[in-house]
Amino acid sequence: MILLKFKPIGVIHTPHTGPKGTPIQSIGARDIKGTIELNPEYVDGLQDLDGFSHIILLYVFHKARAYSLKVLPYLETEKRGLFATRYPARPNPIGLSVARLDSIEGNVLHILDVDMLDGTPLLDIKPFIPDADN
Ligand SMILES: C[S@@+](CC[C@H](N)C(=O)[O-])C[C@H]1O[C@@H](n2cnc3c(N)ncnc32)[C@H](O)[C@@H]1O
Repeated sequence: MILLKFKPIGVIHTPHTGPKGTPIQSIGARDIKGTIELNPEYVDGLQDLDGFSHIILLYVFHKARAYSLKVLPYLETEKRGLFATRYPARPNPIGLSVARLDSIEGNVLHILDVDMLDGTPLLDIKPFIPDADN
C-alpha cells in the first residue's frame, strides 16, 4: 500500500467556528467572506491567479470524526453510501469547494462563498476553468 504524505500550503480563515451554522455548500455561503493565508514559500505560485474569478480549494476536514460507510446526508432521511455523498467524515477527509476570488495581497487571498471551518488546512488551489469544470 502506498502511504501518501501531504503538507498544507496554508490555512483558510472563515467566520465558521463549528459545524452548526456552517453552510453545507458554497452555494449556501453566498457572499460570506474568508481569507487564505498562504505559507510565504508558495507566494510566487500565485502569479496570474488574479485573472480567474473563481478558484477550486482542496483542503482537509481537520475536525471530522471517524467515518462510516453509510451516512445520513444533510437534509435527507435515508442513509446513503459515503461515496455518494459530500459528507466530511471520510477515509481521506478531503474537502473541495469553489470560492470566488476577490483579491490577492501578498500571501493573503480574499475569497467569498466559504463553506469550511475556520483554521481548515489548505492542500491546494486550482483555477476554476468554466469550459473544463462546469
Ligand atoms: C457537506 S461538507 C461540503 C464541503 C465541500 N464543499 C465538499 O463538497 O467537499 C460542508 C460541511 O463540512 C463541515 N466542515 C467544514 N469544514 C470542516 C473541517 N475543517 N473539519 C470538519 N468538518 C468541516 C461543516 O459542517 C460544513 O457544513
